[in-house]
Amino acid sequence: MSTSFLPQVTRRNFLLGAQAVAITAALNKAYAGVLPEQTADDEEFWRQIRLAYEADPAIINLNNGGVAPSPTVVLEEQINEVRYGNYSPSYRMWRELEPKIEDVRKKMAQMWDADPETIAITRNASESLINVQLGITMQPGDEVLITTQDYPRMLTTWEQRRRRDGVVIKKVDFKVPVQSPDDLVKLYRENIGLKTKIIHVSQVCFMTGQIFPVKEICKLAREHNIISIVDGAHAFAHVPFQFTDLDCDYYGASLHKWLSAPVGTGMLYVRKDRIPQTWALMPANESQDHDIRKFEEIGTHPAAMHNGILQALDFYKNIGADRKFARLRYLKSRWAERAEKIPGVTVLVKAEDPRLSGAFATVQFDGVDAGKLGGVLLDKYKIFTTPIGGPAVPGTKTPQFTGLRISPNVYTSPDEIDRFASAVEELVPTMRKTA
Ligand SMILES: Cc1ncc(COP(=O)(O)O)c(C=O)c1O
Repeated sequence: MSTSFLPQVTRRNFLLGAQAVAITAALNKAYAGVLPEQTADDEEFWRQIRLAYEADPAIINLNNGGVAPSPTVVLEEQINEVRYGNYSPSYRMWRELEPKIEDVRKKMAQMWDADPETIAITRNASESLINVQLGITMQPGDEVLITTQDYPRMLTTWEQRRRRDGVVIKKVDFKVPVQSPDDLVKLYRENIGLKTKIIHVSQVCFMTGQIFPVKEICKLAREHNIISIVDGAHAFAHVPFQFTDLDCDYYGASLHKWLSAPVGTGMLYVRKDRIPQTWALMPANESQDHDIRKFEEIGTHPAAMHNGILQALDFYKNIGADRKFARLRYLKSRWAERAEKIPGVTVLVKAEDPRLSGAFATVQFDGVDAGKLGGVLLDKYKIFTTPIGGPAVPGTKTPQFTGLRISPNVYTSPDEIDRFASAVEELVPTMRKTA
């Protein structure tokens, strides 16, 4: 793709940091009594949110699930801190900027209703979850219950433990779309055995956006004296929840996905009594055995990244968790309803039920190669999507599912969604004919 668009990026077609804070705070106040569902298609509200981002002038980005842009207010804070820290990093960054990680911890704990002493700030979901996956003491033969649709890196980590320590990985399949959250609870219940030590569950499946009833699954785990690990990479700041309500043992998430925090930020929740029972990936001093900060002992790193989380938290709070969820669901339904009207097109998971599906879904096309379609969407329509494939889905005729994962964000306009839907309507029948 040509890079001739780059100079335009500097155009001031977005709100500067301070302006954006003031406007989103004012929006929050003005819409205080309005129900989230009523705001979902209130384009004046979302136009202001869109202005808080420096949008890409050349492509429509429908892969916000991989990694999302930060609003300008977050980006500016991050850049300011990088510059400030660079004066004399050993003093400015270590002494002045690094301690702000405590403010991040407190604010996040307050917003998700947790004890700050249970929250570690990490660099991504992988770091958070691998700390836990490798840090729990296990005996040969101990079993981990997980699905084939959990994230490959997390499966690879368990596989390494299998090779190294002889633990057993029980990977279960399930058919998408799931009809009811109870079916997913049943899937775990039926697969618990005498040796099950850990249930590892994604709150939102990265392949299809399928939402899991994690609260019920963690409850089930607790009833059987099983440790629960929730992969919240795709759920944090997307699906509203509180830690007190979820009651899991561990929760790991990336913050550069749905929170729009700086790239290279993540969080790890560890239930208080599990902290001393979990070895940190990078060893910490014995005096830190009971301290959640032992998971932050990673050596020298930029403070600006994790400090930028503070602005991202404020931005999210000003939009409102329920309001954001309702908007993201609205945008998903807007394209999914049109796509499903095309013969031979299936959307996984489209569900009306907010317990089953949120911001994103994967669309499959009978007789059309999803990778090729994604290429044409980018080259001809400047629409960026993610080709995605999955393991065998029992009960379906295709041995693999491949499709395009579509993940808009709060700055995506209905017009952009409609352009995607129109492009698919136009392309699928013609590409199928020539296939
Ligand atoms: C379900 C799930 N878990 C974990 C990860 C890893 O996230 P990160 O690459 O930010 O560490 C991802 C990334 O897409 C994911 O989708």
